Amino acid sequence: MLPTPPEGLRHWRPEDAPALAAAWADPDITRGNQPPPDLDPAAWIAGTEVRWARRLALDLVIDAGRGEVAGEVGLAGFTTDPARAELGVWVAASHRRTGLATSAVCTVTAWALDPDGLGLEHLWARTDPANVAAESLFAGLGWDRLGPAGAKTIWSATAAVLR
Ligand SMILES: CC(C)(COP(=O)(O)OP(=O)(O)OC[C@H]1O[C@@H](n2cnc3c(N)ncnc32)[C@H](O)[C@@H]1OP(=O)(O)O)[C@@H](O)C(=O)NCCC(=O)NCCS
Repeated sequence: MLPTPPEGLRHWRPEDAPALAAAWADPDITRGNQPPPDLDPAAWIAGTEVRWARRLALDLVIDAGRGEVAGEVGLAGFTTDPARAELGVWVAASHRRTGLATSAVCTVTAWALDPDGLGLEHLWARTDPANVAAESLFAGLGWDRLGPAGAKTIWSATAAVLR
């Protein structure tokens, strides 16, 4: 069963397929979050429960109100020892620079690291060093910049780091 997300975030719904298709057509979003090949948005949304049941991913809509999709914050690649996941986020172009990513990442991080939430020990993220927006986002949120790995910058968050 899907977990109940914190306030302001929700699971994908079938009627969100056009908004997801628009996001998958935005090169700024797909550069860091490649859409799955050979899957249309409706089929991808239909796979939400299976992805969670297999602990592959949990992708949450950042809801702008009245059900409008403003973006997504997701956790992927869950491991159990340590209990860890990778965080990714995107915001639709028309909603950027309004603090949505800051608030959504903050919210999902607190929930994911809370023993009464998902109970993870550690979150990490990777950004392209050329992606000033993404790098400023994680730096501004107080994530640890672990440094480069290949062509990416790795960021890390634990409850102790964010306290
Ligand atoms: C990165 C992204 C998620 C930021 O979303 P957002 O909602 O605009 O971010 P916020 O409004 O919360 O901004 C947070 C901070 O990031 C920085 N920032 C955001 N956009 C920026 C830009 N275009 N240029 C420089 N800094 C930027 C700023 O420091 C900003 O704080 P400020 O507005 O108080 O100065 C968004 O630009 C996006 O979806 N990009 C495409 C997908 C992507 O790169 N995802 C990240 C991969 S993990």
